[in-house]
Amino acid sequence: MDNFTPAPQYVRELHRIISRLLYLILFLVLVIIAMPLLFLYGDRLSKWMTTAPQQLPQTPMSIRTGSSQNEPANSGSLFWSPPETSTIVDADLLKKVEYGKKLIQHTSVYLGPKGSVAQISNGMNCQNCHLDAGTRVFGNNYGSVASTYPKFRARSGSTEDIYKRVNDCFERSLNGKALDTQSAEMQAIRSYIEFIGSNVPKGTKAEGSGLKDLAFLDRAADPALGKKVYDQKCVSCHQPNGAGTLLADGNEYVYPPLWGPASYNDAAGLFRLSNFARYVKYNMPLGATYENPQLTDEEAWDVAAYINSQKRPHKKTPLDWPDISKKPVDHPFGPYKDSFSEVQHKFGPFKPIQEFYKK
Ligand code: HEC
Ligand code: HEC
Repeated sequence: MDNFTPAPQYVRELHRIISRLLYLILFLVLVIIAMPLLFLYGDRLSKWMTTAPQQLPQTPMSIRTGSSQNEPANSGSLFWSPPETSTIVDADLLKKVEYGKKLIQHTSVYLGPKGSVAQISNGMNCQNCHLDAGTRVFGNNYGSVASTYPKFRARSGSTEDIYKRVNDCFERSLNGKALDTQSAEMQAIRSYIEFIGSNVPKGTKAEGSGLKDLAFLDRAADPALGKKVYDQKCVSCHQPNGAGTLLADGNEYVYPPLWGPASYNDAAGLFRLSNFARYVKYNMPLGATYENPQLTDEEAWDVAAYINSQKRPHKKTPLDWPDISKKPVDHPFGPYKDSFSEVQHKFGPFKPIQEFYKK
């Protein structure tokens, strides 16, 4: 008989509390799911919301901006971004572009010391220096490669095509060997780089491509000050010995090396202080962007001086800069057309050298 008496007051109260708790938990779960999504896509979302009205999807930039040969591509408010792969109709091309992207992102898995295709490089990925598979604004991206190569480069004193430029990074930045031009891997990398740059008119440079300029200091960059920056802002990921950290399978880096036997060699682009400083100023510590840099100019130059004073592989390049008067001011190896020392060419101050060549 007791079964038919209505539940006592405290039981109903308990029910109410439990159901509220359940709603609260449900709400919290939704928030927890939404947070990482926002974190991952928030950037795109806000970009989309601010630029969507002007943006005509899939219209080549030449049409969008009507840019002439000398104007930077995509002039106006927008920085370059690559076209979507969903615009590729040719199935073969799509396959190549997708493989090319994987090779940029996970170079070591295919071509590193334990690479599945060949063992020709040091374990770094192209993406370690060409962020977001070579598409991030001022993250050393490939936006202007398809539109400006083949081009004359003073380093080799010759006209270089994309193959040669890619192999330069294999031999220097990845301290490895060149890929055969006709290999599936080189063809895929070329297809990828050409595809992502296909919305930039030939002969023009995409806005936001490559690295962002950084002013020279009035003094020489200082490795001792740079060590302090390193110990505060870099060491947690890149490690006290600069060797970075490998993934558990040992096939790729979580945090790539900055010096030592597995790092880029002394003929690489990053060994020049200006390239290094421009890269880290707008991209490091991880999370920094051109809009939200986290190093002062001094810190960027000094940490560049510290890291590029550490031991790293040496590459003989007797044929580089056949015209020595074309050496960049921060090329640290003589002979020079000027009388500044190798030390000044390495650490600066660079303004006096720049002045010398302006005359
Ligand atoms: C250690 C850093 C680093 C790694 C790793 C690296 N690169 Fe580079 N790469 C650079 C730097 C720095 C430059 C610009 C150098 C300069 O302007 O002197 C560059 C330039 C380039 C360019 C020419 C860009 C332009 O706009 O002219 C291409 C193409 C390129 N790299 C491809 C690759 C490929 C492909 C890989 C992987 C096989 C790779 N890089 C790995 C640092 C790196
Ligand atoms: C939170 C971790 C983290 C911190 C802190 C950090 N980095 Fe990095 N760094 C990375 C990662 C991860 C990459 C590779 C990015 C990728 O592959 O997308 C990288 C790449 C680099 C590269 C190019 C690749 C190479 O190994 O040569 C340089 C140079 C670099 N960092 C310098 C610095 C400097 C200098 C600082 C301190 C001012 C710093 N980083 C702080 C995580 C970090």
